[in-house]
Amino acid sequence: MNKKYITHILILLIIIKNVFTQAIFTKTNNVENVIDYWTQEKMSNAEPMLSPIGELNKTTSNNEKGRLLSSVSDSDSINPDVESDYLLTVGKLFFTRSGKNLVCTASVINTRDGNTGITAAHCLYSKEGEYAKNVIFYPGYDNGKPSALGKIPVIGLSVPKSFMISRVDDYAAIKFDYPGKLQEQTGYFGWGLTPTSPVNITIFGYPYNGEIPNCSKDGQNCCVWRGFSTLEFLEFPKITTAWKVPLHIGSGASGGPWVMRNNLPSYLGYLIGVTDFHVGVKKNGKANEYADALNFTLINTLIDWPPSQFSKF
Ligand SMILES: *[C@@H]1O[C@H](CO)[C@@H](O)[C@H](O)[C@H]1NC(C)=O
Ligand SMILES: *[C@@H]1O[C@H](CO)[C@@H](O)[C@H](O)[C@H]1NC(C)=O
Ligand SMILES: *[C@@H]1O[C@H](CO)[C@@H](O)[C@H](O)[C@H]1NC(C)=O
Ligand SMILES: *[C@@H]1O[C@H](CO)[C@@H](O)[C@H](O)[C@H]1NC(C)=O
Repeated sequence: MNKKYITHILILLIIIKNVFTQAIFTKTNNVENVIDYWTQEKMSNAEPMLSPIGELNKTTSNNEKGRLLSSVSDSDSINPDVESDYLLTVGKLFFTRSGKNLVCTASVINTRDGNTGITAAHCLYSKEGEYAKNVIFYPGYDNGKPSALGKIPVIGLSVPKSFMISRVDDYAAIKFDYPGKLQEQTGYFGWGLTPTSPVNITIFGYPYNGEIPNCSKDGQNCCVWRGFSTLEFLEFPKITTAWKVPLHIGSGASGGPWVMRNNLPSYLGYLIGVTDFHVGVKKNGKANEYADALNFTLINTLIDWPPSQFSKF
């Protein structure tokens, strides 16, 4: 039997539905394959994932909702002089879906297992209900090159059931296949703090277009935007409470972290969302990008990888 055929039939997909935790875990057992799969050519030709687009005029600002959320003061000031934006914590995430090679942004978050990251759910799970395959993470990818950490296969995906049903909670956890704890190598973003609105934040991502100033917009560099984000209640393109920034971040940056108290090089900060969808276009000067406000109870269930499936591989 030829080798290709054998490896093909070994690809295994186990889906564990947990009705109590509201998270749906998927295991992909094709670690050797995924490393071989991502050749330089496939990476170069991978299409940046488009963030879902909404219409302009249906957003409703809602400061009331912002006040209702339990708040943590964001008094720690952000030092705008720090230039060092190079992080291993953020990286490119390549995957296959609907027969296409695609790319998003992901980052490492603080978890007990040390091998968990976060990205946008719309990267990993399609409207048609298809999961991403051949998922691989390049922490610290920059200047067109992987970092010394290279590529890290992803063996588990954890997508909120609420996202599958109504596209809300557009964030998902990924489990890295890494000997030891990847977060000790890359650093990690904390999570669990809900700031008051507006908040100073930093957004990281690998966009191929969009409006981040001083960004190569070719997906080769980790671009950084710093500014204020405000919390809004939206009814369109979906009913959600989301953080807003006044620019289009761009394709390929989907899933990139939005962090508060990012004060490099000492403090990586706390995750408040990931790049999700944009509304409007630049030509009328009204583009905004949004990140669903995080539900930390939900995140706790997303990162609770079933031990029997994910503890040892
Ligand atoms: C949005 O704008 C369109 C036309 O541009 C209009 O038909 C529609 O009623 C508007 N919707 C709202 C909620 O204002
Ligand atoms: C937000 O950042 C700006 C400069 O980037 C600074 O002037 C301002 O004090 C910061 N606000 C807070 C609440 O930290
Ligand atoms: C743009 O990036 C270059 C190289 O990183 C830097 O030297 C320059 O100061 C940046 N310009 C602005 C406006 O941030
Ligand atoms: C947060 O997530 C939990 C677990 O999925 C859910 O029970 C709860 O209703 C969610 N809270 C909000 C405000 O959506």
